[in-house]
Amino acid sequence: MANSISDQPMPQHHCRPPELAVIVPTYQEADMVDEVVRRVDAVLQGIAWELVFVDDDSPDGTSDRIRAIARQDPRVRLVQRIGRRGLSSACIEGMMSSAAPFLAVMDGDLQHDETLLPKMLEVIKAENLDIVVGSRYVSGGGMGDWNARRQSMSRFATRIGQYLIHADLQDPMSGFFLVRASVVQGCVRRLSGVGFKILLDIFAEAEQPLRFRELPFTFRARESGSSKLDNAVLWEYLLMLTQKLIGPVIPVRFIAFSAIGGLGVFVHMAVLWPMLTLLGTGAFLISQTAATLVAMTSNFFLNNILTYRDMRLRGRQLIWGWLSFVAACSVGALANVGIANYLFQGGHSGWFLSALAGILVGAVWNYAVTAVYTWKR
Ligand code: GDD
Ligand code: MN
Repeated sequence: MANSISDQPMPQHHCRPPELAVIVPTYQEADMVDEVVRRVDAVLQGIAWELVFVDDDSPDGTSDRIRAIARQDPRVRLVQRIGRRGLSSACIEGMMSSAAPFLAVMDGDLQHDETLLPKMLEVIKAENLDIVVGSRYVSGGGMGDWNARRQSMSRFATRIGQYLIHADLQDPMSGFFLVRASVVQGCVRRLSGVGFKILLDIFAEAEQPLRFRELPFTFRARESGSSKLDNAVLWEYLLMLTQKLIGPVIPVRFIAFSAIGGLGVFVHMAVLWPMLTLLGTGAFLISQTAATLVAMTSNFFLNNILTYRDMRLRGRQLIWGWLSFVAACSVGALANVGIANYLFQGGHSGWFLSALAGILVGAVWNYAVTAVYTWKR
């Protein structure tokens, strides 16, 4: 009887595979998800849809809430990611979890206007487009209650974005769009997944210039909870832009890691100098050791919140993380000195190039080893 599934009467929504998947990334939106489902259901009457929440294991129990809804309604699905953070990568994973030919991405805090969804679907099909973007900057659209600082930040980011993708897109920073699944599938391996600018990434990486249209909407005020996009988002945006500019040759994390390493030299000196003035040069060994430890520690924490923001270690993980970081970098320092010394003493290169080669080998070692042992889980 194994193949008699089709004999069984099925509920209506089982019969039609979804034409449209609405991907909703969530972090700490437990109070919002019921309303999101209710509104999507109301507005997509007559369309075969599914709703995919991608939740990064929010401590407020968002995932449990979504699971409870999904038990009642099979059109609602959940991807619960553990130990990961990041808006872009959440959207990508949600999109890749669906077989629907059309994919929409929409925020889970009701700030995007879900009533635009049917129009977006209609327009993408009627005009045979690749993507339809919900836009705050075309006539009829608006910004809601953003403060001046955030508005000017957004305008600045928008300029850079437009320059980057060479497309006359008024709102490349929008997180609200509806796209053909084939477009995403065609470029998904090139998407950086860093930060929160998934739309920009798709435009930059699509196989062909995208046929698009922008539809106006007004960015609603947030009813409860708070924006998760703090100042560090600007840093992530910079990381993504850097990644686009240098391409896949050098990983952008390595650039960030090296920049922080360079900063570590200043931290080192800032500890060493006062210690020597206080304790005298007789205390060089102890001072140098202390300065090294402090610099390593500050580098560890900076890398943890900047370079590895999306897989940040917290709580007790910090202990193992710090230990492995210090261990790896100590070996890196030995390799650095060893190689520089070998090159210099052997007469292979002058002091400057010898030192540079040592630093480079040490940096690559530190980066590679900590990427595997400190931040990879
Ligand atoms: N899974 C996951 N992981 N979701 C996240 C994360 C994360 O790390 N960070 C934020 N989200 C979810 C939020 O729960 C919300 O549903 C949505 O992503 C947007 O996050 P907000 O924190 O509400 O962003 P915002 O209102 O400040 O920013 C909006 O404006 C941008 C335009 O400048 C968002 O709409 C962006 O999508 C948009 O690009
Ligand atoms: Mn929001």
